[in-house]
Amino acid sequence: MGTTPHPVYLSPPAGRALLTWNGKQPPPPLIVPPAIEIERCGAGDQILLHGENLAALAWLLANGYRRQINLIYIDPPFGAGIDRARRIRLRGPGPTRLIPVADVAYRDTWDDDAYLQFMYERLIALRELLAEDGCIYLHCDFRKAHHLRCLMDEVFGAERMLNEIVWFYPRGGDGERQFNRKHDTILLYTRGDHWTFNYDAVLIPYTRRQIARFRHEDERGRYYWNVNPRGERVKTYLRKSGIGAYDVWTIPIDAALARDLGYPTAKPLALLDRIIRASSRPGDLVLDCFAGSGTTAVAAQRLERRWIACDVNPGAIQVASRRLRYAILDHTPPSSGFSVWRIGDAAPAPQGDIHVRVTHHNDRVTIAIEAYTSPLLADASRTLPDWRSIIDEILIDPGYDGTVFRPAIVDAPLRRSMLVRGVYTITRADASDALALRVVDVAGGEAFAVVSI
Ligand SMILES: C[S@@+](CC[C@H](N)C(=O)[O-])C[C@H]1O[C@@H](n2cnc3c(N)ncnc32)[C@H](O)[C@@H]1O
Repeated sequence: MGTTPHPVYLSPPAGRALLTWNGKQPPPPLIVPPAIEIERCGAGDQILLHGENLAALAWLLANGYRRQINLIYIDPPFGAGIDRARRIRLRGPGPTRLIPVADVAYRDTWDDDAYLQFMYERLIALRELLAEDGCIYLHCDFRKAHHLRCLMDEVFGAERMLNEIVWFYPRGGDGERQFNRKHDTILLYTRGDHWTFNYDAVLIPYTRRQIARFRHEDERGRYYWNVNPRGERVKTYLRKSGIGAYDVWTIPIDAALARDLGYPTAKPLALLDRIIRASSRPGDLVLDCFAGSGTTAVAAQRLERRWIACDVNPGAIQVASRRLRYAILDHTPPSSGFSVWRIGDAAPAPQGDIHVRVTHHNDRVTIAIEAYTSPLLADASRTLPDWRSIIDEILIDPGYDGTVFRPAIVDAPLRRSMLVRGVYTITRADASDALALRVVDVAGGEAFAVVSI
């Protein structure tokens, strides 16, 4: 995993359909950026990349992942013309308290031509990473679905299209000047002639009423009914445990999840669960390079797939790593861990101020955080009765080696009504001379401190 920038080359697009735009250009060779591992959570080879995804894809291509990815899901910005704000809720018991933050989770305002070139370059690099029998799901909506389909036809070939999936989410919001817009489009393409499709894993189970119809049993123990829907006498056997999944999926938006994560575009886990079950096997490698709150990685982790996720926004990396730590612990036995890499010149999260006091008593060391000021909530954090109401997590690496942060103490209460403890005791024998500590706040600011003990 080299550190000097150098180019990697890409194959030309595979298809013939051509969409053009002002400034359309074949992608130049990608420059492989330097990358450093900054954090490691448990043992395992899953990777969370913090950085611009084109650079991250170049890095993956240069580091042995060409044609190695079995499944790609991407949920890029839709060109919604808005910059999505992160909503900040204070932690702690009592009623929900909101505080304003002038921060955006990510920008989604695009010039059309720039958007198409942006997607074109990334799709070409993604095709290069996809295994010969791999699949790619591209999530979009009515704003860009028609253009993105042409791009997919050009990059992958029109004959590689398997499905245009409609994700229908009947919920909230009313459009009085047109029909209510309540679906997204997910384009599913393959790389080659063969692909994974686990038909049985996504069957729609029969309802009791449907099963009740198959009330006759033949001499081989198979159930059937002998009238078809038109009333004709035909033997119809119950051969599977359900009906093959349709390309229209009704899955509710998980508004509570998006609100709790503070990530308004978070997709429901059920959506990613279905995609991963359908198009990969345990142990396969799943990639999402617009990872956001990390839904794809969390679903992959739960389904025992390996994963690589990337996002340019440090707030996304914070939320995704927190969810992934929970997903690892939730699994019995705890599933394999991941490392976080910073790609190229990705900007770290805004840094705040922290005051830590270390005291010794016999062979015990107590680390107490006395105050924290968020870089994004400076005024608000000064007037809070308890500094912990703006803290999402505190992570401590008692044996910090000066390069990779390996948190052994993770204080990240799941429920919003709970606060971090703020005081931690370890035995002297468990610590090295320097201890590292990272505090992440509800607005996406953080502080990193190395303390001598
Ligand atoms: C629609 S959100 C993805 C939401 C995600 N599916 C989830 O469930 O949380 C799109 C994400 O793409 C990220 N993004 C946009 N442009 C990017 C780029 N060039 N490189 C990496 N990430 C990017 C944004 O920061 C944002 O988190």
